[in-house]
Amino acid sequence: MARAKTQFVCQNCGTVHSRWAGKCDGCGQWNTIVEEDLLGGVGGGPGKMAPKKGRPVTLTTLSGEIEEAPRIATGMGELDRATGGGFVRGSAVLIGGDPGIGKSTLLMQAAAALSRKKQRVIYVSGEEAVAQVRLRAQRLGAADTDVLLAAETNVEDILATLSEGKRPDLVIIDSIQTLWSDSADSAPGTVTQLRTGVQAMIRFAKQTGATMVLVGHVTKEGQIAGPRLVEHMVDAVLYFEGDRGHHYRILRTVKNRFGPTDEIGVFEMSDRGLREVANPSELFLGERNEKAPGAAVFAGMEGTRPVLVEVQALVAPTSLGTPRRAVVGWEPSRLAMVLAVLEAHCGVRLGQHDVYLNIAGGYRITEPAADIAIAAALVSSLAGVALPADRVYFGEVSLSGAVRPVSQTAQRLKEAEKLGFSGAVLPGASADLPKAVGKVSKLESLADLVVQIAGRKLKAPEE
Ligand code: TYD
Ligand code: MG
Repeated sequence: MARAKTQFVCQNCGTVHSRWAGKCDGCGQWNTIVEEDLLGGVGGGPGKMAPKKGRPVTLTTLSGEIEEAPRIATGMGELDRATGGGFVRGSAVLIGGDPGIGKSTLLMQAAAALSRKKQRVIYVSGEEAVAQVRLRAQRLGAADTDVLLAAETNVEDILATLSEGKRPDLVIIDSIQTLWSDSADSAPGTVTQLRTGVQAMIRFAKQTGATMVLVGHVTKEGQIAGPRLVEHMVDAVLYFEGDRGHHYRILRTVKNRFGPTDEIGVFEMSDRGLREVANPSELFLGERNEKAPGAAVFAGMEGTRPVLVEVQALVAPTSLGTPRRAVVGWEPSRLAMVLAVLEAHCGVRLGQHDVYLNIAGGYRITEPAADIAIAAALVSSLAGVALPADRVYFGEVSLSGAVRPVSQTAQRLKEAEKLGFSGAVLPGASADLPKAVGKVSKLESLADLVVQIAGRKLKAPEE
């Protein structure tokens, strides 16, 4: 029987199918399966070469000398923070984000900063023509630097260009979706092409010690096209995110082989490029209306950095059969859980109410520690009672209605104090409370919080 030379790969999740189908069994997406050449590309199959005899490598122990990874810091504080202290030489970094969010701008600024530090930086643009990139560089005040520019998408040509002359310190590929290689037979933009191109770039980085920064666009589903395939190949994955309606952007670390994850860098957009925001809390609390019901300040943590942000809730009687639940900046399933706990254990009836929840400034909260702040905002809106303006809220809620302490209580309180908050509402069992905090009110259960905010008036008579 002749061996199959092609396979059918889902472009969304990478699942391999034996035949074409309209819908992928792996991820349930429609029209994502594309026929690809089995032999083309790195890792694309067994290849044509005869197996060679292996060569034993020296085994070693876990203890021994450790070399600190050599880094090149850009001098842009927020970017260096997100990468864990600067780009590591010989590593590959993926920067993902929605189209138009500002990835090219960020990297052009980083390239210019490094070039001013006498580093050799090559910017390969596959999406924009040289003139367009020059225009951006002019707008950003980077046109006078020695950043080298190429508009190219062919992998072999890019590698030949990079290998010429002195070894580059930093290479930026903008973007990986435009890469295509002669050695892979699939159409440009397919998983095989993406994988082949990225592998080749990573290999170049490892061989020469240049840092490779790869830009990747995110698809509607929130993943980089050819998603998992690229994420696991690179050393670090950063996402550049933000809301189009808002003027600031967050660089979030989701994977880092050379540093901590969960770090964020915060930038503000301007007509002259991105500006660093050293104290994000001030930005997120900027436009606060302290007397309005339904707003609570959450003391959150992003990696090692505390971030204070306002949670806004609107609870209003519904005119629909099924009330609406709309969330921006938080997980809808988490909201459903908090609502269920409020109903089941605190006597707060929300079945006849629409619930809208918004995190101020387009910020996105990922911590469960926001449960208490969210519940406070909801109850405050329902009761029509504004929360005390000088209070921050944090803590996790469990399904039993109990509240659970969260990590880094001391840092959260310190940041709150720094920004002029004199009190905090937190779980009773919180450890490492600093002595010198103002009014701390400790909760034993979520019902305590409801009573604290709304008195007994929301409680059902039988409770
Ligand atoms: P761009 O960097 O091209 O986004 P991406 O590479 O992620 O697709 O930026 C998109 C647009 O936003 C571009 O027209 C320039 C504009 N922009 C600013 O004017 N100021 C800024 O600070 C940023 C980040 C972008
Ligand atoms: Mg771009």
